[in-house]
Amino acid sequence: MHRKMLPILTVVLLTPLGTLLFWLLAMWGAHQLAGDRIAATDRPIVALRQRTTTPVVVPMSTRSLYVAYCAQCHGETGDGQGTRELDRPARSFKDGGFSFGNTTEALFRTISNGIGGSPMPGYADTLSADERRRLAGYVRELGPDVIEVDASATIMRVTDRPRIVRGHLPSLGEGRPEHPRGIITASPDGMSFEYAAGDTVELLAVRQGEFVERTDWTDRGGSPLKPLGRVIHLLESDDELIDFGPDARRRLTGTAIESDRAVVRYRIMAGSQALDVSEWARAASTPLGSGYMRMFTLQPASPDTTLEPVIRLPDVSDAVAVLQSPDMTWIVSPLDEDRYLARGISGRYEPESGLRVPLDSPDPTTIRLTTIFMSDWNNAVATMLEEMK
Ligand code: HEC
Repeated sequence: MHRKMLPILTVVLLTPLGTLLFWLLAMWGAHQLAGDRIAATDRPIVALRQRTTTPVVVPMSTRSLYVAYCAQCHGETGDGQGTRELDRPARSFKDGGFSFGNTTEALFRTISNGIGGSPMPGYADTLSADERRRLAGYVRELGPDVIEVDASATIMRVTDRPRIVRGHLPSLGEGRPEHPRGIITASPDGMSFEYAAGDTVELLAVRQGEFVERTDWTDRGGSPLKPLGRVIHLLESDDELIDFGPDARRRLTGTAIESDRAVVRYRIMAGSQALDVSEWARAASTPLGSGYMRMFTLQPASPDTTLEPVIRLPDVSDAVAVLQSPDMTWIVSPLDEDRYLARGISGRYEPESGLRVPLDSPDPTTIRLTTIFMSDWNNAVATMLEEMK
């Protein structure tokens, strides 16, 4: 075999065309070898190009991402013992049990949106989707092996699509009423919104995490729902946001999924006047803190009426600041010991009289209300709010 190859090689090397062919083959072979090395080791790009002077951007390994962005609070090993002082301990990932869901998808959403009302920031603006997804997998691996029980029969998860369920809502706490007719909507970012939908229609609570458990999946309502997410904002005893006079009544007119939104529609009636409202909500993650956003579309029920509903935020009497940004008014109020609530409403909101919304054309008017939980309140925060859209 060897002896036969030698004369062939000699001939090949002696003819010009043969030499060219030989080198082409040799170079192709070397290239293949280099390719194997790239696939086999983790950081070959640096090793192969060490002699070049231009820096090569190597994607950060998931471990370095974790150390750079998360370890300060969650600890190097994920035990929750970071170096940073926090008003509440960061989660230890070693124990598994995540209150906002332990699937990679649920963790991805938590990492993207943060946890409203806690020091856990959202990374949607800082890290790419791929980096967040890798971190979700990493965090999950830090914990004990998770056995994914197929609970799909009883637990309805938040997926990449919005969802709506109707049913009996349990009480939101000691001394609070049950709501025999209720609606829970979920946005794909992992937030769920609990509405009373019996005698009136109003948002009761905002939750984050898994969606609902239910025994009966026929969509007719009446069956008990068990919301699974954690309440991050309780609004049950708040005054109604859209003020349409003291005698106004509200009636649910429908729910719908419209692309990535779960929409709740209702009619507000006062005397002979009627206003159609549709609203949807989702998570909001800002550099100042996380929270959620509600969008309202208002339209007179009959085209020839002129209505002027007022949007009124509950208790702004204790506001520490009212700021005007280019297209919104921000009202900052203390929430508890060390947290602040910043509510931004599109348009010019007056703390005494609210926001008047003259509806003198049949076209719908859209109002946005953003609620974010902040742990700091100072001049720098005020400036950022003033610039925020
Ligand atoms: C400023 C401190 C801080 C930083 C930085 C931080 N976290 Fe957190 N994180 C927290 C706190 C506090 C909680 C607990 C919040 C709670 O339960 O109310 C938390 C909770 C979580 C949870 C909770 C999940 C659950 O369902 O209970 C996950 C997942 C998480 N963090 C991932 C991350 C990742 C990944 C990073 C880095 C990209 C990160 N965190 C950076 C403070 C932080």
